[in-house]
Amino acid sequence: MQKQTTPGMEKQIHDPRDPPDITELDSLEDDLVEKESSLSCEQEIQTMIQLAKNPNTAQMILDRNFVVVYSSPKTELLFKDYYKIAKKPFFNIFNQPFRTNEIRELLISLKSWERGYSWSGTLMHKTQTTRTMITRTSINPFFTNGTEIAGFILFFEDVTRRYNERLRSTFSSILEAAKLKDNDTGLHNERVSYYSKKMSSYLYKQRLYPQIDPDFIEDIGFLAAMHDVGKIGTPDYILQKPGKLTELEWEIMREHTINGTFILSSYPNPMAKEIALSHHEWWNGNGYPFKLEGDMIPLSARIVTIADVYDALRMKRTYKEEFTHEETVSKIQAASGVQFDPALVEVFMHINRDFDEIWNLLRDNNHNEDSRAREQEYSDII
Ligand SMILES: [Fe+2]
Ligand SMILES: [Fe+2]
Repeated sequence: MQKQTTPGMEKQIHDPRDPPDITELDSLEDDLVEKESSLSCEQEIQTMIQLAKNPNTAQMILDRNFVVVYSSPKTELLFKDYYKIAKKPFFNIFNQPFRTNEIRELLISLKSWERGYSWSGTLMHKTQTTRTMITRTSINPFFTNGTEIAGFILFFEDVTRRYNERLRSTFSSILEAAKLKDNDTGLHNERVSYYSKKMSSYLYKQRLYPQIDPDFIEDIGFLAAMHDVGKIGTPDYILQKPGKLTELEWEIMREHTINGTFILSSYPNPMAKEIALSHHEWWNGNGYPFKLEGDMIPLSARIVTIADVYDALRMKRTYKEEFTHEETVSKIQAASGVQFDPALVEVFMHINRDFDEIWNLLRDNNHNEDSRAREQEYSDII
């Protein structure tokens, strides 16, 4: 006899005389287990979401398939300039801070009992228009009934400032040591940093060079001051010699570029070495130490060269009077395409009033303590 069924009701209407269909029962059981398990996963996830609603911490909840199911307001705020956080697979949003092998490592950790199904480390977040942000990140599992992974909870902590301060404090100490040797320079290094930062900010606003981004501006603002750090290795009798240097003494003097590169070799951003090595190269190839020419000279060093020479010309030294702003500008203009990158000189012609302002604000006088205090104030403005 043909059984009467309504569409979609096949499973409910069952003739008890029919032999039980084992596969059907098995799959029914599987379905039930699966439903039960995803139900308890869902309950666990909801509990975790309630717990994660702490306004002071940046947290995120992923389900067991690494799909974002919740992110706290603090997380949204932390990453607002970096990612659009949505209910998508975690790696579709956060793939950029990982390299392929790191993602593999992380997945192995999250699936490994020995590693506690968890991972922690530092991630670097960056876009073309934002500064690099470093977060300490931890990913930990939570379970259904203590057995099966229901999902993961993530914590992010912004450690950028701490990281940069730690990194820079070591190099600042080296710079201070170099200054003790070359004590004729006053606030020269600081001013060179401000001019360089000013010019880089202008280039960034004009979108003139793709490599100039907020990181570049921030880094040159710290690293331009280190341009002569290699002088720590130059003998005192040469640095402090009142008269003209002999050719041999000049040769030793020029080595400060190479020495600076060695000193800064462990600095993570190669810009540090570029500036130390190439700030005496000339656009026409007549500079030192390697007679690099034109675009072969890194952009950061080409910027610092103009800043360094502007300041050196304005300073009164034992061997020269100070030049006025106008005299200095015309000297730099005259050396366009010879010593300096002509495109950068063109930019300098637009913004040189700012250089003059920096010079006047941070000018050395007999009360260098005053200048230092003004430098502190100025660093907050620029
Ligand atoms: Fe130098
Ligand atoms: Fe200098």
